[in-house]
Amino acid sequence: MNKLSMTVNGKPVTGEVEGRKLLVEFLREDLGLTGTHVGCDTSQCGACVVHVNGKAVKSCTMFALEAENADVATIEGQAAEDGTLNTIQQAFQDHHGLQCGYCTPGMVMSAAALLRDNPRPDADEIREYLAGNLCRCTGYHNIIRAILAASGQEVAPLAAE
Ligand code: FES
Ligand code: FES
Repeated sequence: MNKLSMTVNGKPVTGEVEGRKLLVEFLREDLGLTGTHVGCDTSQCGACVVHVNGKAVKSCTMFALEAENADVATIEGQAAEDGTLNTIQQAFQDHHGLQCGYCTPGMVMSAAALLRDNPRPDADEIREYLAGNLCRCTGYHNIIRAILAASGQEVAPLAAE
């Protein structure tokens, strides 16, 4: 077992993990942060996306020990303390950017990373950025609308499209 320290959603955490433990397993099993989902375990679906030192990362693709001393952000840290959704979460709700919700934490975390790098992406740029995030409910259309809206861009009502 190896000792491990990192910051998760602004709070220092420690743990003791086997070398083979994945970051997503540490978050879910050791810290109880089950908002980060596992959809495939083969690095394809993006349900496990978190931020590590400000970069979007599939947390099933790195070992927990690789995040030693890192600043990790998960979906649990996105809303305000009182539960008020952040701009991206609110836009997903307003524009029906989710159906079953399984992919949603990864989508929101990827969208946050995209908007940090590119505050006003067009629909094609959003599609390209989300290539590593799969939605099995095929809700892509409204996900893209939600991210456009979250970036402050005009989104026509669905009925007008
Ligand atoms: S669980 Fe990590 S990419 Fe699917
Ligand atoms: S909303 Fe169901 S997988 Fe995306």
